[in-house]
Amino acid sequence: MLKRTNMCGSLRTGHVGQTVTVCGWINTYRDQGRGLIFTDLRDREGLCQVVFDLEQAPADLVGLAKTLRREYVIAVTGTVRIRAGGANPKLATGEVEIVAEKLELLNASEAPPILPDDHEAEKINEETRLKYRYIDLRRPRMQHILHTRSRITKFARDYFSGNGFMEIETPLLIKTTPEGARDFIVPARLHPGKWYALPQSPQLFKQILMVAGCDRYLQICKCMRDEDPRADRQAEFTQIDLEMSFVEREDVMEMMTGFVRGLWSELFNYDIGTVQRMTYWDAMERYGIDRPDTRYGLEITDVSDIAANTEFAVFKDALGLTKAGRKGVVKAIRIPTPNEKLTRKVLDGYSEFAKTFKAGGVPFTKLGANGFETGVAKFCEPVKAELIAKLGLVPGDIIVFAADHYDIATKTLGELRQKIARDLDIVPAGKWNFLWVVDFPMFDWDDDNKRWVALHHPFTSPNPDQFGILESDPGVCLSAGYDLVLNGSEVAGGSIRIHNMKVQEAVFRLIGLTDDDAKMKFGFLLDALRLGAPPHGGVAFGLDRLVMHIVGTDNIRDVIAFPKTQSGMDLMTEAPGPVDPEQLVETHVRSTAVVEPAKH
Ligand code: AMO
Repeated sequence: MLKRTNMCGSLRTGHVGQTVTVCGWINTYRDQGRGLIFTDLRDREGLCQVVFDLEQAPADLVGLAKTLRREYVIAVTGTVRIRAGGANPKLATGEVEIVAEKLELLNASEAPPILPDDHEAEKINEETRLKYRYIDLRRPRMQHILHTRSRITKFARDYFSGNGFMEIETPLLIKTTPEGARDFIVPARLHPGKWYALPQSPQLFKQILMVAGCDRYLQICKCMRDEDPRADRQAEFTQIDLEMSFVEREDVMEMMTGFVRGLWSELFNYDIGTVQRMTYWDAMERYGIDRPDTRYGLEITDVSDIAANTEFAVFKDALGLTKAGRKGVVKAIRIPTPNEKLTRKVLDGYSEFAKTFKAGGVPFTKLGANGFETGVAKFCEPVKAELIAKLGLVPGDIIVFAADHYDIATKTLGELRQKIARDLDIVPAGKWNFLWVVDFPMFDWDDDNKRWVALHHPFTSPNPDQFGILESDPGVCLSAGYDLVLNGSEVAGGSIRIHNMKVQEAVFRLIGLTDDDAKMKFGFLLDALRLGAPPHGGVAFGLDRLVMHIVGTDNIRDVIAFPKTQSGMDLMTEAPGPVDPEQLVETHVRSTAVVEPAKH
């Protein structure tokens, strides 16, 4: 095989006059019938033009050159020269071309079902691209994404190892670790009727590593959660997972802020500035969500006190001022002018949108020059002065309201706020707003099962000043958990952990585990906490989500080499698939699924 000397995408005018050998795939092939064949040869670094001069070249090269087709794999040796036909400013190598002197066909290709062309990719359905992922990944955009992902993991390894973190692998076949999702389970052949779980995260192992004296741990690890994939969620995803001993919340947050600061500086030469903090309750009040996008305003205001003085039944009902009323709130978003995009039809559509969050709708009105117009104007008019003062209204502003239980009203406006921002196109481009959300509640009340559920995970410690109310007032108790939010998406989550066995036992009891359950499920953790556990805390970054932000896509499948579809399929290998009946026997498994016999 001809020995490669250069990458296709690396050639520049500095190479003119040199004899080079490049290898790659034929991206385009043009036989112009004037004694010249032009091809663009592609490798992961880019494209370069290769010219076959049929009059000058030896006969065997000419014969072979004429057989070339798209996606054939070749090696070419030739001399680099300034492009005879004028430069192509669209290509990094556009000023030069190679005049082929030797050609080796390394492999032919059948006519490809799709072409690795970034412009065409949009038009090809994603399923076909996933089925032929190896062709799709040849596209420059996909190569760029994979390369960027690799730069991020390299930066993470350099940064954290520079700060004393040790890379340690934790097992994949484990006992279930609760992160709130369903486990993928694996039958244990050697232990009939028993199962391993695949890790939802290495949470407990990294904590145990702290008990083991490892002090600072890093792992770039796969996590598996058997939940439905979404635009920013895969059942199998990657974390940059970290844990530190002898630290408090501030130490962990500072270390992790340093990581993203360095990464953004390395990749974009961008200074992320001071990373703001916001408490969970502040985030819920002002943005209706625990991962607020602070790149734009449209903040939420509680107007319950004003709404109580209207005659609007929807408000009064929500506030518990009517017989059938419930104890809720009335909240509002002021949408400033100019808002021509917010037609009546669009505003009515918002009520439909609100219904998906169990709200009855979102009443609205508009402040005109002489008072409220449209929608619920007549109910708002008597409290005009108060609304203007509280919301800072000016003529032309639209107000949308949500009147319901706290959770529903908050969530509805939180989601609607993001939709309005997209509809009005007011999300600024090129801005990176990092935000630490802190002081989460320890627990959420699960009304169906009448028990507390840990909001982060049950190994999260209460804040140092909250231990006193952990058991007496669990609903109010705040945790030492923290999430890092970037432009409205949660890119990392973590906490200071419980290192005291008694506190851990109390939390288990609060979430409804009996002492026996706790011992059976987490006996090893309780033992470790009894045997010299240092104070510790950590974080996990969602690597896929970080890459999504960095390369600018809202489809998580774009940033994973071999992702799963929405229904959890790998279309290339056709996983999941059947197994041999013998494998089931060996692993002591009998399926209850009714599988349709294959049609022949
Ligand atoms: P958590 O469950 O918050 O914490 O996960 C940490 C980060 O991982 C990312 N993430 C996901 N990315 C893609 N697909 C998913 N299904 C998915 N689920 C989570 C998010 C999230 O912020 N053990 C704890 C961490 C700790 O406490 O140290 C944990 O796993 O970006």
